[in-house]
Amino acid sequence: GEPGDVPGGSMSDPFARLRRLRASEALRTLVRETTLDAADLVYPIFVTEGQGIRREVPSMPGVFQLTVDRLPYEAEELLQLGIRAVILFGVLPPERKDERGSGAYDPDGIVQRALRELKRTHPELVLIADTCLCEYTSHGHCGLVEDGKVLNDASLPLHAAAALSQVQAGADVVAPSSMMDGVVAAIRSTLNEHGFTDVPILAYSVKYASAFYGPFRDAAQSAPAFGDRRTYQMDPANAREALREAEADVAQGADLLMVKPALAYLDVIRLLRERFPHPLVAYNVSGEYSMVKAAARLGWLDERRTVREILLGIRRAGADLIITYHAKDVARWLKDGS
Ligand code: PBG
Ligand code: ZN
Repeated sequence: GEPGDVPGGSMSDPFARLRRLRASEALRTLVRETTLDAADLVYPIFVTEGQGIRREVPSMPGVFQLTVDRLPYEAEELLQLGIRAVILFGVLPPERKDERGSGAYDPDGIVQRALRELKRTHPELVLIADTCLCEYTSHGHCGLVEDGKVLNDASLPLHAAAALSQVQAGADVVAPSSMMDGVVAAIRSTLNEHGFTDVPILAYSVKYASAFYGPFRDAAQSAPAFGDRRTYQMDPANAREALREAEADVAQGADLLMVKPALAYLDVIRLLRERFPHPLVAYNVSGEYSMVKAAARLGWLDERRTVREILLGIRRAGADLIITYHAKDVARWLKDGS
């Protein structure tokens, strides 16, 4: 260059050298904008019938279906790792399912028993109950079905009954995931009528009809027996509609909002972050987990670095909390500094 030129400078700011702040790990840590902490993670748990069972989900290596008796050990491990919240899903054998999803609101159902046990053994763990019917219906849909259609309003009392039974069993938070219109209001008023005015609702407000749920449906044995969920879950092409979904849930009393899946919808996470002051949760779903696991097994990706980058990206987009199957691994890596 010419005498007097600033090497690496630019026209607008000849003194800008952005590499100055990247020179050492200490400096990079000092200027880091986004953090990843075990306390921001929620671990999903699949609860199954029986005794002493810890059954790995074939499409989700490292994820297990657990029986109620194994849950206290799991809770112990999570708390040791600094993870303070779980979200519970029930797994039923086909012969225990019916058209009305009775297992979802059975006071002695699988998730209700899990909640009671965990509340007894580990009251400090935040228990979030996924509230839906699809794991309990013979047809696998998230509401009542008539003439091949999923009914909205007729399904609401069942979702409200499910949420109530979960709260009575010890749920600290209920998380309606059905995408039925009005489900948050139905749950809120039922909880209030029974004196549970202080139990928050985490609304799966923006849930897309996604191929990334594939492995979950394996894990929860909850794939729809006919059709798909596109008449109630959102079209992946839409973002403005996500604002309408979130507005509706906020108007009905949602306390926390969720976007699901996370990775293909980072723009939607950012959109909600900018429009709503509510705590925002992102669900890093089963397919997002399995993709990384599969590539890591093949030696095509470095699992630790990939997972941290993904979760950091979701946080950077605007999520406060992340529901993720990677939670225990990440918490371990954070602990041992790797
Ligand atoms: C069902 C439900 C689904 C997930 C959580 N609750 C998926 C579905 O619509 O089948 C997906 C979670 C995941 O993929 O990790 N209400
Ligand atoms: Zn469902």
